[in-house]
Amino acid sequence: ALERTFSIIKPDATKRNLTGAIVKKFEDAGLRVVASKRIHLSKAQAGEFYKVHAERPFYDELCEFMASAPIVAQVLEGENAIAKNREVMGATNPADAAAGTIRAEFAESVGENSVHGSDAPETAKEEIAYFFSGLELVG
Ligand code: CMP
Repeated sequence: ALERTFSIIKPDATKRNLTGAIVKKFEDAGLRVVASKRIHLSKAQAGEFYKVHAERPFYDELCEFMASAPIVAQVLEGENAIAKNREVMGATNPADAAAGTIRAEFAESVGENSVHGSDAPETAKEEIAYFFSGLELVG
């Protein structure tokens, strides 16, 4: 089915000028960018976005990192967009990511792993709504 998912190009990638290279991977896989904005999150905003991870040992480091430089928040649309996006990103830890995936090619570590993507339809909906209004979604 035609789906939408939420994607973040993380600070390690925006700093290295990899935004275009990463978007190309998504587009080449058949995903369409239907919303996009470059923003610099505060640590509190990053903390709210990642609140499901609040009890994890890496939470503070994750929030610091996500607020360390601009991100590009996007909504990607396509057939099975959630699974497709996850396939193109590769495993969370770049050491485990398949060849050709974004994380295999670009990620620096499990924390500074270049991209985030929603893991399920319910989280996609919540994450899209956290960053975008309905008027900003242009299919
Ligand atoms: P993401 O898909 O954005 O969702 C949560 C993030 O936490 C994850 O990608 C990683 O970047 C980060 N993360 C997961 N495990 C670790 C870890 N062991 N150390 C630091 N960051 C981590």
